[in-house]
Amino acid sequence: MKGIVLAGGHGTRLAPLTDAVSKQLLPVYDKPVIHYPLATLLLAGIRDVVIISTPRDLPLIRNLLGSGEQLGIRITYREQVRPEGIGQAFLIAEDDIEGSPVCLILGDNFFYGHELSNMLQKSAKLQRGANVYAYQVADPERYGVLEIDPQGRAICIEEKPNRPKSNWAVTGLYFYDETVVSVAKSIRPSTRGELEITDINRHYIDKGELTVTRLGRGFAWLDTGTFDSLLDASLFVKTIEVRQGTKISCIEEIAFRQGFIDERQLLALAEKYRNSRYGQYLGSLISSELS
Ligand code: G1P
Repeated sequence: MKGIVLAGGHGTRLAPLTDAVSKQLLPVYDKPVIHYPLATLLLAGIRDVVIISTPRDLPLIRNLLGSGEQLGIRITYREQVRPEGIGQAFLIAEDDIEGSPVCLILGDNFFYGHELSNMLQKSAKLQRGANVYAYQVADPERYGVLEIDPQGRAICIEEKPNRPKSNWAVTGLYFYDETVVSVAKSIRPSTRGELEITDINRHYIDKGELTVTRLGRGFAWLDTGTFDSLLDASLFVKTIEVRQGTKISCIEEIAFRQGFIDERQLLALAEKYRNSRYGQYLGSLISSELS
């Protein structure tokens, strides 16, 4: 399975923070926002990733993550010239994902929870249909909302409904079979001029091919799209990291534990960041493996 991180948009809700820099490069505590969705893909075992961003921000993201070789993965960069919807990601990355199932994650989405990695790896085996991740929220009218039957199957999906049929919001994490590119080509832009991911999902529901993975109460799905939610996410990460002495969504650690890189490569990354506590943490992973 291949992965796409959609890191587009102008981040106007975060201006002036985003006047000179992409929202995906802002910090959530000790790492840039985009590390979190990338970590989710790595946890799913995905090693072939397309990052899509604006012409302004793509070079900065490339500076940050490079070819991916240092993480034992491959990163391809593609421009989204105009923000014309999440569904547009499949058209932009068409040549990169051709013939392969794909996992799409939005560039500002943060997931955390026990056994998440196992759930992701199961989803990454998908060959047919689609699988979306849903989360119970207090304000479903801000999201795509699912109606789910008692067996957990999706009955219907609506984008930002005035009267939501449930509290289950569709998160920014989606798994699709290889037909998603042709599905994306078959839908028309919505009234807001976007190729809606919800229309793609509805297509799979109509065929009876959309499954829902519900993230229960033990999980966190956090937003980083407003001043408050950005700070809340930082404090959430800080609280757990400081308490446990571990790191959340540490891409270097995940790459190492997944066997994408060896000790020597992890040591090189620890060296690169040796003046920060981040680098010291990476170094400590090697010593704890050796002891
Ligand atoms: C988009 C999707 C929506 C989904 C949300 C998740 O919303 O359209 O279905 O629930 O991402 O963050 P937007 O960012 O366009 O408001």
